[in-house]
Amino acid sequence: MTEGGTKVGIRGIIFDLDGVLVHTDQYHFEAWKRLAGSLGIYFDEAANARLRGVGRMESLEIILERYSGPPLSGQEKCALAEEKNRVYQGLLQTMNPDSVALETVDTLSALKGRGYRLAVGSSSRNAKTILDLTGLGGWFDAVSDGVSITRAKPDPEVFLKAAQLLGLPPGQCAVVEDAASGIEAACAAGMLPVGIGGAAGDGRCRCRLNALPELLTYFQGDTSILYGAALHSPR
Ligand code: G6P
Ligand code: MG
Repeated sequence: MTEGGTKVGIRGIIFDLDGVLVHTDQYHFEAWKRLAGSLGIYFDEAANARLRGVGRMESLEIILERYSGPPLSGQEKCALAEEKNRVYQGLLQTMNPDSVALETVDTLSALKGRGYRLAVGSSSRNAKTILDLTGLGGWFDAVSDGVSITRAKPDPEVFLKAAQLLGLPPGQCAVVEDAASGIEAACAAGMLPVGIGGAAGDGRCRCRLNALPELLTYFQGDTSILYGAALHSPR
């Protein structure tokens, strides 16, 4: 990518939160499992995997695919989602700075040291709570979350808002994601998609990571080469 004849690479890195910076999946799983159980719905890890990166109400609809009780009104569905969130928030209270891997903090610190602007881009309405409980918030120049957007991923809104808060054009931002919906949102935003965890195998990703510190091998020097062929971390 060039700007005024000068090569411009990535200047901002936007991180998804759940499944990338912190492992809240287990709490989402526990809270949804309790709700599903109260409705007589079978729920397991495989069903939970479908909810990764999916908004709260959309997640509820996926769970209700197996519901066979009397029809539920919109109000009742909202109450169910609120109940799940109440349980989830209770579980989140066990989080603290030790809930974050040291390598995650070291990676954020090194990227900041290299001059990258860092943001969080999460569909979660609990993102700020998680950032406060873990102490991660201090590493970010901007936070774009479920409270500040109207459309969850795969809509690009959350990432476009993050880039705007960073003061960068989308083409100068990379997105680190563990969910297909997030990779789709990054592509729709015109950002460089970086896959980790469940998204590492996604063919749309420019870089695929086994672990977060691998970002340091890609994001250094001339990052304009990252716009070329897809790069893969050695397994
Ligand atoms: C993230 C998680 C999803 C979650 C969504 C909404 O995208 O990966 O599993 O459903 O946020 O989170 P919230 O905390 O607002 O229910
Ligand atoms: Mg995620």
